Amino acid sequence: MSDKKLQGKIAIVSGASSGIGQGIAVRLGRDGASVVVDYRHDKAGGDETIRQIQAAGGKALLVQADVSKLDDIQKLVDATWEKFGKADILVNNAGVEKGADFWEVSEKDYDMVLDVNLKGPFFLTQAFVKKLIEKNIPGRVINISSVHEDMVFPHFASYCAAKGGLRMLMRDLCVELGPKNITVNNIAPGAISTPINTALLNDKPKLNALLNNIPLGRLGSVDDVAGLAAFLASDEAAYITGSTYVIDGGLMRNYKEQ
Ligand code: BGC
Repeated sequence: MSDKKLQGKIAIVSGASSGIGQGIAVRLGRDGASVVVDYRHDKAGGDETIRQIQAAGGKALLVQADVSKLDDIQKLVDATWEKFGKADILVNNAGVEKGADFWEVSEKDYDMVLDVNLKGPFFLTQAFVKKLIEKNIPGRVINISSVHEDMVFPHFASYCAAKGGLRMLMRDLCVELGPKNITVNNIAPGAISTPINTALLNDKPKLNALLNNIPLGRLGSVDDVAGLAAFLASDEAAYITGSTYVIDGGLMRNYKEQ
């Protein structure tokens, strides 16, 4: 059946205890994949993701790992292979943002944003592909980037630097990993209704200004993004690599400074 198009696949999703990561993990599980649910500190959220996957008849494993730490990254990949004997799909989803005027950004906040959003995908992808190359098996890497891998986001300079880096990382790795039959693509969501946006969602004037910039007139949902991730993970996307898939209701084509 078409809704089980990921049957037999093993997927790792970083930052899967809430928001887009949780939605993707549940969707991949529903489509037949066994899912390794990574969380950093929100164990209750991770448990909820597992519960939803199992309720849909899927298999899942919960692993605590901070993707900005290399030891944790190795633990995540090792736990996957120990439990399921392989890994086919990596979704680099874990992300953070921290708004501040550029001239106020501290080294600590800069490091936190770059470590989670760029160093994490860099080294988690490295650990993921090392195993695939060793065993000569194909793979899929899907990075959850942002429209801000390309579009300005004033007062979020560190976030833009990280997401811009993630765009070039994807392009570079598509060339290096293509001969190993490993595809690499980015999903660039716009404004999606998730916890990362809590401040915005609670600020009606700001939210309305943003909605005015979105041709489709609404925020995206986690399910909108999860459907695209499931497609990129599926056999139907076998020939797609090196691209960013923007999913933003048209925001990027219609951005206006206030
Ligand atoms: C950010 C959101 C922002 C959206 C659109 C996302 O990458 O995480 O905070 O609202 O882009 O600007």
